[in-house]
Formats: sequence, C-alpha cells, structure tokens
Amino acid sequence: MTRSIPKAPGALPLFGHGPALLRDPLGFLESLPDHDVVRLLVGRKPALLVREPELTRQVLVSDRTFDKTEWYDKGREVMGDGLLICPHSAHRRTRRLVQPLFHPSRLPGYATVMTSETAAAAGAWHDGQEFDIPREMTLLITRALVRAMFSDAPSPGMLRQTTEDILTLAKLSGPLSVLPPAVARLPLVGNRRFRQAGIRLREVTGGILSDRCDDVAGPEDLLSALLAARPSTGTESEDQSFTHREIIDQLTAFYLGGTDTTATTLAWALLLLAQHREVEDRVHDEVDGVLAGAGAGVEHLPRLPLTAQVIKEALRLYPPAWLVPRTATADTRLGSHHVPAGMTIVYSPYIIHRRRDLYEQPDRFDPDRWDHERRPQPPRHAFLPFGGGARKCIAEGFAMTHATIALATITARWRLTPVPGCRIRPPMAIALSPNGLRMRVTTRSPR
Ligand code: HEM
Repeated sequence: MTRSIPKAPGALPLFGHGPALLRDPLGFLESLPDHDVVRLLVGRKPALLVREPELTRQVLVSDRTFDKTEWYDKGREVMGDGLLICPHSAHRRTRRLVQPLFHPSRLPGYATVMTSETAAAAGAWHDGQEFDIPREMTLLITRALVRAMFSDAPSPGMLRQTTEDILTLAKLSGPLSVLPPAVARLPLVGNRRFRQAGIRLREVTGGILSDRCDDVAGPEDLLSALLAARPSTGTESEDQSFTHREIIDQLTAFYLGGTDTTATTLAWALLLLAQHREVEDRVHDEVDGVLAGAGAGVEHLPRLPLTAQVIKEALRLYPPAWLVPRTATADTRLGSHHVPAGMTIVYSPYIIHRRRDLYEQPDRFDPDRWDHERRPQPPRHAFLPFGGGARKCIAEGFAMTHATIALATITARWRLTPVPGCRIRPPMAIALSPNGLRMRVTTRSPR
C-alpha cells in the first residue's frame, strides 16, 4: 500500500532528500506533491510526510503508536530522557512530575524575570546599532530563561558559555540528524562540537544543581519546583521522584526546547513588523498607550492584544518546530495507507498553517485574523505551533508570555529596520530561523 504514496522529487543516491532539505527547507516543503501523505528519503531511510490535518491529528493523539524513538537519539546524548524527547514508556510519569512547574499560578513569578531581563538587554542597545537578530534574540531569551530556571546562579560568564552551547546544539542537531547514520558516526568536527557543547551544558547545570540540592526553600524558580517534585524524605515511591540525573535531563530539555523556539518567533515577528509598517504603527500605538516607554509586565498583557496577535501570526507563518518526526512502533494505518512498524512519520505545522482550506490568504501576514471578537477563528487542529495531543508543548503559556513581553518591551523603545542587502536563509535546523537577518535599531519615543 505504501507504494501508492507519491514520492517527493529530487532524491539523491545515498543522501536522499537530505541535501534538498539542507539547501532550502521551505522551498522543499512547498515543492511537494499535493497529496495527503508524501514519501521522502532521509539518507536511505524512507519517511512519510503527513500533509493533511486529520491525519496529522491522528499522529499527534496516537502517541504510543507514533513514538519519539530513533530520531531523537542525537538529542538523547544531551537531554537524556528529558520530557521533550523521552519515549512513550517514560512520558506519563515525567509529564506528571514536570506539569506543576508550568502551572498558570507560577507564571507571574517567571514573568517578573522575563520583564527585567528583556528591559536590561534591550536597554543596553545604542541608537543605530546593528544586530544579527536570531543571535541577539537567542541571547535575550536565554538570559531570561536561565534566570527563570536558576534565579540566583548564573554568572555573566556562565550565561555566555551556556548561550554559545545552546546555539551550537541548535545549529548542528538538524544537519546531524539528516545525515546517514554511518556518516553521522564519523569523528567529524560537527559531531565533536555537538558532543562537547552537550557535555558542558550538562556539567554546568549539574554544578548549579549540586549547590542547591535539597534546598527546597530556595528561591522560587524552575529548579526549586523540580526539586520540590523530588521528595527529599525518601518515603515516597521512586515513581514520584526525579533523580539527580533526571533533573539535569529536564533542565537541558528546557534550554533546548525553550530558547531557540521563542527567540526564532521573536525574530520573525520583528521582521514581519518591519515589512508591514501599517501593523507596526498600530503596535506602537498599543504599547505606547499601555507602557509609555516602560518594560512590559504580566499585568499589562490583557491590554496588549495586538502584540500577542503578532506573535501568534509569526508562529503561524513560521512555526519554529516546522518538521517533527515520530517512529511507528507497530504496523498501523494512516487514512487509506498501511504504515509498517519502524517507519518514520513526519508532521509539519508549516504545511498545515499554509493550507488554503484552513486559512484565508494563508501566505498573508494578518495578525487581525486572531481577533476572535471580529473574525471567525480557524479550527483548533489548524494551528499547531505547539504540537498537540499528549506531547503538546508543556510551556505554551510560558512561551507566549515571554514572547509577548519581549516584543512589547522592544517595540516600546525601538524601531527595527532590516540592514539593506542582508539575505535571509532559513537553515535546516531544529527551529526554523530567519538566518542572516541583520537589523538596525533606532530609538523611538512614545507618541
Ligand atoms: C515559541 C516557543 C515554543 C514553541 C513554538 C514550542 C513548540 C513545541 C512543540 C511543537 C512541541 C511538541 C513537539 C512534538 O510534537 O514532538 C513542544 C514540546 C515541548 N516543549 Fe515547547 N515550544 C516553545 C517553548 C518552550 C519553552 C519555553 C519550554 C520550556 C521552558 C518548552 C518545553 C517543551 C517541552 C518540555 C516539551 C515536551 C512536552 C512533552 O512531550 O510532554 N517549550 N514544544
């Protein structure tokens, strides 16, 4: 049956569609045949790319059948069995223990750090300064996330090294995972750098953990919440507690799941505003009315609806997790197609978000489409930047809060303009980033 699934054009012997994906990932996705499922070759390994919303939903809700196994082995070198990549067998327990960290009641505490760190980072910019925007946004987001994780620990040196390591891991994990396994195992420079960055990230995290171990009365941050999820009395069953190693697994999964994704969203939002000055003017009106040039806090969010809609629209047009793999753990069916055990299945929020049957003028930047009072909202399964089913992003509220606070704080003080001649080349990476985007910042005053 699988034979009747159309093949994506342009596979090369040995490397399959890997080179096409590395060269121009979005162009490749847009060139695929218009069919519910398309067959790809990643190296010599076949994979099925699901293009249709109902089949995507099936993949997402059947998390036992479509599991996170072999494609996540590279990530396991760094994140062990962290929630982001753990297999189904470990997922329920891990999710249950991590869930309280992201309870809405904890958001205001994290938001205080997001506000102060964004204001400090954007406050240090100079009029006329130019930035590599994906990199600058990663610095800005990482700084706040690390402080939300360890409110007392990060020294400037640790923060710099951690950010560099996250950038290295984010840049290399995409290309390394599409290489044929025999090539990926060679002692390549990329492999070495990946491993070193992973080891360093875990060592630094382990050091902070040891300093804080069992200090559940410590500051209110993600680490204290994780320690609280690990009863120190030893009376509770092991099932309820995290070991030292597992805590490091979770924290490294937050670094890797939470920095590049949010930073990328912010980078696209800034570019989209610069390309649509009429929307930018309205965002400026909104932030000026609410913030009058000050940093945004969680208390301002209800009065920043357009800013949040810009973030949502950036997530729709450029979902950071644009191609997400699973492995079929048993023979099964997807629609009319037989799927053998072991087959790789890939879902793509990018493809779903650009469908004409789900969105009016899907390629258009239109933040007002998210104004639920004035416009009918797209069906739930049409918007998947945070995935869905049991593996849906656990930090959706945290990420939306962080991105909206950051965008409001930046636009309240600065206007950003692309540097003429910069060429944007989204790379084959885990997060879809506007690589190459350089922007100049100009001071602005509240109107
Ligand atoms: C705009 C920002 C973000 C986006 C677009 C995003 C996207 C996603 C997506 C698509 C998934 C599901 C992946 C799959 O189906 O395999 C996911 C899961 C996850 N994300 Fe996020 N994420 C964001 C921010 C964050 C942040 C800030 C954190 C942590 C601080 C985080 C931690 C996680 C974790 C732990 C999971 C695994 C959940 C599970 O399997 O139960 N994410 N995220």
